[in-house]
Amino acid sequence: MHSTDDPQATTPEGPAGPGPDPSGTAADAHDPGTPAEGDAPRAVGRRGILGAAGASLLTGGALGFVGGRAVAASAPSANPLETVHPFRGEHQQGITTPAQDYLFAAAYDLTTSDIGDLRDLMGQWSVAAEQMTRGELVGERPLANLQAAPLDTGEAWGYPASSLTITVGVGPTLFRTADGVDRYGLAARETEVLGQGIPRFANESMQDARSGGDIIVQACADDAQVAVHAIRNLTRIAMGTAALRWSQVGHGRTSSTSTQQETPRNLFGFKDGTLNLKAEDGAEELGEHLWVGSGDQGGDWLAGGSYLVFRKIRMRLESWDRLRLVEQQDIMGRDKRYGAPLSVSDPTAGSQEFTAPDYAAKTGGRPSIPADAHIRLVAPEHNDGARMLRRGYNYTEGSNALGQIDGGLFFEAFVRDPRTGFYPVLDKMSRADPMNEYIQHIATGVYAILPGVREGESRFGQSLLG
Ligand code: HEM
Repeated sequence: MHSTDDPQATTPEGPAGPGPDPSGTAADAHDPGTPAEGDAPRAVGRRGILGAAGASLLTGGALGFVGGRAVAASAPSANPLETVHPFRGEHQQGITTPAQDYLFAAAYDLTTSDIGDLRDLMGQWSVAAEQMTRGELVGERPLANLQAAPLDTGEAWGYPASSLTITVGVGPTLFRTADGVDRYGLAARETEVLGQGIPRFANESMQDARSGGDIIVQACADDAQVAVHAIRNLTRIAMGTAALRWSQVGHGRTSSTSTQQETPRNLFGFKDGTLNLKAEDGAEELGEHLWVGSGDQGGDWLAGGSYLVFRKIRMRLESWDRLRLVEQQDIMGRDKRYGAPLSVSDPTAGSQEFTAPDYAAKTGGRPSIPADAHIRLVAPEHNDGARMLRRGYNYTEGSNALGQIDGGLFFEAFVRDPRTGFYPVLDKMSRADPMNEYIQHIATGVYAILPGVREGESRFGQSLLG
């Protein structure tokens, strides 16, 4: 990880670098050590606070690289607001990173036909992303030039890093338009997963404008404003090269991606994420189910990356809330209070959440976990061992004309290959799960999540774009 005292360290093209806005580079910035008139609040900024947070992490030896891979990236700080997740490594941050409380995801469509613009954008984004995830301002220093627009929009100025992670992926339309046009000379590198796209499933009513996109960015943080600030600033940098297609705010995690985290709850009120694929599952398990390997198709540019499939799932909360508790539990296959599988006859403690479901157990001659319970349908043991890393968020978007809450689950699955690790499970669920009466899938997308930006690299997707 670069020293926060080296202002040029994260510039991709050398000291001058393609800053997000050439009109306001370091040449315009005052020396942070020399206070400018009316500049006192700027000297504090996110940078000052990071100093303390970063120092505490470094003292604890929390940051380091082994074989090019960031280690202990997932070790949560006592105060998540002070946690800084390393930006560089074999894999991108924001996947096995302990799921933060807030999400702001955004998809972009490129408005340029020049791959050089795309390269520049990815370079500028990685500089800004590295700065923001360290808790710094975009451009690192406050701008002193009153005649230029500040590089950083400012709404997270003085806020700590807040566990911010920024994760970037590319969609099928980057390689080939819907009409089959090879826009950037990348069509030959498109993987089958991207080329085949997402199959249609039962119980979906997709909104095209809220689906897909050439590029996706997932910003997660333990402070909502820090996540929003990240997307806002990346969107600003993209102006003229890529336009926002859709964006999604998530106000509460519905998954744990680390055994160190308490399991959160979804809007149906159930603990969600209990049996998720987690960071502590180890390299072998994650290599089998999560990370694209060098021998996989596209491994020449995607090894160390993954695939993300998202499903925006509207939840019919008012109908669900009228179900008797026993019906809710039968649909999920778990106890609502403690999250224990229904094969635990009378759960009394949260620790029973992690008791393995016994699918053969019977109560009164019938399966304790009903034959069509959600957990039974989607369990790896009933799906050829398929495992996915779920990293979804609750969303709420006001209410509709009937006075119903417009909310649901922004479901995210990271998998090595969705054709084996995700689509068959979703297909089964969409045909057989009684939960379907209470949900509807309304948007979707599949993306190749790029490998991590390694030490010495200057941009997201360097192995693809050069
Ligand atoms: C609104 C929609 C959904 C809700 C409310 C929901 C809820 C839950 C709950 C409460 C659990 C049990 C706790 C846990 O192990 O995490 C669970 C598990 C799981 N869900 Fe969902 N889920 C939804 C959609 C989906 C979708 C779309 C998929 C993918 C096809 C999926 C895949 C899984 C998997 C793989 C597990 C873990 C099963 C295991 O490892 O044994 N869920 N879900």
